[in-house]
Amino acid sequence: MAEYPRGIKKKYTPKGKQGRVRKRENPDVYVLRCLLQASPHFVSGNQLAEKLKMSRVGVWARVDKMRKAGLSIEASQNRGYRLAGEPNLLVYPLLKAWLKECKTDCPFYLFKKTDSTNSEAERLLAEGVETPFAVLSHQQDSGRGRMGRTWHSPKGGNLYLSIALRPNVEIVKFRNFTLWQGIAIGKFLKVHTGVQNLLVKWPNDLICNNKKLGGMLTEASIDCDQVRSMIFGIGLNVNSNTGDFPKDLRDSSVSLQEASGMSWRLHELAARLIKTCLEASKECLSKDSDAKLLKEWKEMDFLKGKKIKVQSGKETYTGRADGIDHSGGLRLKLRNGRARVAHAGKVSLIL
Ligand code: BTN
Repeated sequence: MAEYPRGIKKKYTPKGKQGRVRKRENPDVYVLRCLLQASPHFVSGNQLAEKLKMSRVGVWARVDKMRKAGLSIEASQNRGYRLAGEPNLLVYPLLKAWLKECKTDCPFYLFKKTDSTNSEAERLLAEGVETPFAVLSHQQDSGRGRMGRTWHSPKGGNLYLSIALRPNVEIVKFRNFTLWQGIAIGKFLKVHTGVQNLLVKWPNDLICNNKKLGGMLTEASIDCDQVRSMIFGIGLNVNSNTGDFPKDLRDSSVSLQEASGMSWRLHELAARLIKTCLEASKECLSKDSDAKLLKEWKEMDFLKGKKIKVQSGKETYTGRADGIDHSGGLRLKLRNGRARVAHAGKVSLIL
C-alpha cells in the first residue's frame, strides 16, 4: 500500500472550475479528484453530496465501494474524507482522476489480466478505436520483449502500459521513436523519483544502477512507406521485489522501490508516464527532432565508451560504443580503428 501525505485538520471545499462536476463525469472519479486536490486535507461529505446532487449516505456508499476496490479512504465525522493510500494494483477511477489532475485526456483500457497490452492495443486498433489510447494491465500472460523475448509480468506493483497512435508519418520519422521515448521517460523518472543513476541502453532498455529497470517495445503497421498505426509498450518495475523474479532475471533487474528505498504511487506514476509518452511522441514525430535526439542521447547513453558485443543474425562483432548516428543506429569503434553502425541485434557488455 503506497501512502498519501497525512492529514492536517483542515477541511477543503471543492471550488472553482476544478470543483465542478464535469458533464457525464463518473461520481467516483469526481470524489477522487476532489480528494486528490484536497490532499493532505479532508473533503467534507456534505460538500461532495451537494456537488454530486446526492445524499451523504449516497457518497458514503460510493466511498465504501472504492474501499472494497482497495483504496484506503479515511472518514471522520467532523472532517469528511481523505485519501490515505492506494493499492499496488491499478483501480480505474483513481487512474482516471490522476489523468485529469495531470490534464491528460487520454482514454484508457484497464485489464486485470491479458496476454500482452501491446496485443490488446493491436486488437483495439483493428476494431477502429480512436487514437490515442492507452492499455494497462495488472499482469500479462505473454508479455512481449524485443527479439522474441518474453517480459516477466507478475501481478502487483509493476506497470505494463501500451499507448496506441495513428501518426500517418513517413517511416524515417518513426525509426528513432523508442530512443526518443527512452530519453523522455528516463528524464521524467529522474525528476519524479529523485533516482539519478538512470540511463538508456540502446535501443530499448531503461537502466538503473547497471540493472534493468524497464523495457520498451515499439510495434508499427506500415503501409506505402507511411506508419499507419503504432503501439509503444513499456514495462516498468516499480514496487516489485526483484528477488522474487525468475532466477535468470534476479541479478540483472531492479525496481524503482529498490533503487530509491521507498514505494511509489502506481496511479500517479502511470498517469504521468502516459503524459510523458504522449508529449514525447508529438515531439519525436514533429519536424527537426533528430538534432535534439543526438544531443540528449549523449546525456542518457548507458553504453557510451563501453566495450560491447553485437549479435545480429549469424554475425557477431565487438567494439567500443560511440553514441548513435542521425538514423538512431548504434555507432561502434572497431579494434582496427574503423567505424561501424548497428541497426539491429542483441548488445551485451564485454566485462
Ligand atoms: C524489452 O525489454 O525487450 C521490451 C519489453 C517491453 C515490455 C512491455 S510490458 C507492456 C507492453 N506489452 C508487452 O507485451 N510488452 C510491452
